[in-house]
Order: sequence, then C-alpha cells, then structure tokens
Amino acid sequence: MSAAPPEVELTIDGVVVRAPAGSTIWEAARAAGIEIPVLCHDPRYRPVGVCRMCVVDVGGRVLAASCVRPCEPGMKVTASGPEIEAHRKLLTALLLADQPQAPSQQRPEGSDLVALGRRYGLVGEGASGDLLGLPRGTGRPQDPSSPVIGVDHQACILCDRCVRACDELQSNEVITRSGKGYKAKIAFDLDLPMGSSSCVSCGECMDACPTDALVNKPLAPRRRRPLPLAPAPEPKPAPPQPAALTPVPTLCPYCGVGCSVTAHVDEANNKVAWIDGRDSRVSDRRLCVKGRYGFDYATHPQRLTQPLIRREDSYPKGALSSALRVKEGKRPGGLVDYAEVMPHFREASWDEALGLVARRLLEIRERHGSSALAGFGSAKGSNEEAYLFQSWSASASAPTTSTTARACATRRRWRR
Ligand code: SF4
Ligand code: SF4
Ligand code: FES
Repeated sequence: MSAAPPEVELTIDGVVVRAPAGSTIWEAARAAGIEIPVLCHDPRYRPVGVCRMCVVDVGGRVLAASCVRPCEPGMKVTASGPEIEAHRKLLTALLLADQPQAPSQQRPEGSDLVALGRRYGLVGEGASGDLLGLPRGTGRPQDPSSPVIGVDHQACILCDRCVRACDELQSNEVITRSGKGYKAKIAFDLDLPMGSSSCVSCGECMDACPTDALVNKPLAPRRRRPLPLAPAPEPKPAPPQPAALTPVPTLCPYCGVGCSVTAHVDEANNKVAWIDGRDSRVSDRRLCVKGRYGFDYATHPQRLTQPLIRREDSYPKGALSSALRVKEGKRPGGLVDYAEVMPHFREASWDEALGLVARRLLEIRERHGSSALAGFGSAKGSNEEAYLFQSWSASASAPTTSTTARACATRRRWRR
C-alpha cells in the first residue's frame, strides 16, 4: 500500500487548511472553498504569476502571488480584506484603461477582465467609466489575417495564457512574445500575421484569453466558400449577435475521439453561434479546428437531410457529372455540378432507403456468399454506433470490419 502524500497545515483567512506538500496557496484555498480571483492563471497550465491579481498577504514585505507561492507549514495567509481588495481593484483599473474603447466582445456577458471590472464597480451599472482617472492606452494594432480568430493587441494584457495553451495543451508552439516595454506583444512564429503563421486554427488560444484580445470571428460570408458539389449559394450577411444564446451540451460529430462540446445556439436564427470545449475526461475542453469552427455545415443549404435513392432510369451506374466522364481517355476535371447530379436521385423515407439497402446486401450474399461483403464504419459515429455496426457486420457474416476511427483516434493519442 502506498503511503499518503505528505501534507502541510496552514491558515487561510482564519480557516485551518491541510494541503498536499508542494501545493500553491491558490490550490489550497480552492480545495478549501476559498475563492481567490485570477487572471493569468488557469489550473490546466503551468502557473507563471505574471498578473498579480491573485495576491495574498503572507506577512512578508510585499503581497505574494498565490498562484505560484507554495504553501509552507504554519503559514498565516490573508486572502481578502480592504488592502488586498484595493490592490486588486487598482490592478483591474490599470488593465481596463489599456483596453480598446470598442472591444470585440466574444460573449454577451463579457470577458474575465470585464467580470473583474464589474466586481470592483469599474464597469457596468453605476460605474462612472473614468477608471479611477487613469489615462487610456491606444495605438496597438489589430490582426485580422486568420480566417477564424480575430486578434486585437490593444486588448492583450500579456498574461501568456494563449502561449501556454498553445504550447502545453495543444503542443503547437506557435505563439510567443516580441518587443519590449509598451511595444511588447504576443507574436505568431517569427512575428508573422496569425493567418500566415503555422497556426492550425484549433482556437485553444482564443478559449484561454481572459480579455477578448483573441476572439472567434463570426462565420462571415467569405468563409462560405462554395463546396465543390454545388453552385455557390448567395452569401448572406451574418445575423447580428443575439443578446442571449442557449448553451447545449453535446459531442463533436467529426471523429472517433468524441470531444465534449457546448454549442451556443442562437434559437431565433436557428443557428449555432459558436462552439466551446466542455470539461470531460476525453478532451479536457480541448478541440481541434474541425470541432471548434466546422459547425456551419449544420445549416448549409446543400446539406442532405433526407435519404436519396438513385432513379431506376439512371442505371447502369456511371459518372453523373461531366467533370468526371472520361473523354478521349481523360477526365476533364473541375467541379462536380450539383445541378447535373441531383436529378438522378429522388428523395425517399428512411424505411424505404434502409429496406432497399438490406435487400441489395441480401442479394449479394445469396449470389456471391458472405465473403463478398465487408463493413467499413465511420469515425464520425459514436462508440455505440460502432458497436452496433460491428454487430450488424457479424450477423451478416462479413469477414472484414473496420472503421476510420483507427486513423484519427490514434493520431490524437500520440499528440498528448
Ligand atoms: S492574447 Fe489574451 S491570452 Fe494571450 S497574452 Fe494576450 S491577454 Fe493573454
Ligand atoms: S479531435 Fe477534433 S474532430 Fe475529433 S472529436 Fe475532437 S474536436 Fe472533433
Ligand atoms: S493569477 Fe496569479 S499572478 Fe496572475
């Protein structure tokens, strides 16, 4: 039996707390239900202690950053009180004074920094808006080059959460720092525009950012490139962001990893406004570019929502699009024309479509034996669907069953 890890005993705001040796004061306080506000810290990343929002009094010469300060036996910590709150309020005002006058707001309720501003009466109802008379900062640029993430350097407080999210959670190592003094800023690769850098658009930095310096761009018309299967629908302007969205817990439908997500649904426009990663043991709030930004298919005009059956007069099978028909030994290539292909199909009910598939499979088995059948499942299916599929495959005596989840789930495991 392994021995229990050694503990230290300390007092936080008069409460006796025991914490595993090596814990920080912030961790010990959190485990004891004592809230200490943070900005640069997130328990998923290595603590760096750069913003000093979490300061506490440990009886030293200066206040200590509780997110990096380890607990010591017998320590007496004051985590709240007029002096500490005044410090946090001044720090919040200083950070807010550098924020853009018209921020790109990600969420209706505002960022973590805005929430702190509200807590200290600096923004929101009843706030004078003068931020303790501090001069306002201006002049830092924006970077609109990424197709999915907007960057506003004026809103950046250099907390490095995005840097650590990119390095430690996603192992992409794209974001760093450049410049000195007031010119210090986050940088992508060797200070390239984000859209030209090696960023893979996973959005983890945007999720980490406590100030809306990194925000999701709305799925603007220019992202709605035509799919190769159809004429481009007329782009519509993105609807205005509604005051409230309905959070719907669900799963990413793209691959067998099955990351947990929250879809923020604009019910009035029947659309997903954006997707967040959700806490779960599978994905720990992380997402890839498909899970975070690939959701506009749900309301795409070309999406098939009903089964289609090939019309009898469209047999024998062959290329339906002139782009794929072989002419003089060559395929002309180009885009498959939706309007040319669709007339060869008719809509059907699920019962009719499934009945037809079952009948055809039985015909193949009767004519050629079960070795003529093989099952290939999709990584887009859930574990339960994969289980049902292999049960079906076994009942049909198909000798081979596989799924594309083998490829993408394996890759994801390697990256951890
Ligand atoms: S962009 Fe956001 S997360 Fe990154 S350093 Fe700036 S404030 Fe922090
Ligand atoms: S790895 Fe990407 S595509 Fe697969 S479930 Fe997670 S977010 Fe979706
Ligand atoms: S939250 Fe501790 S220093 Fe930033």
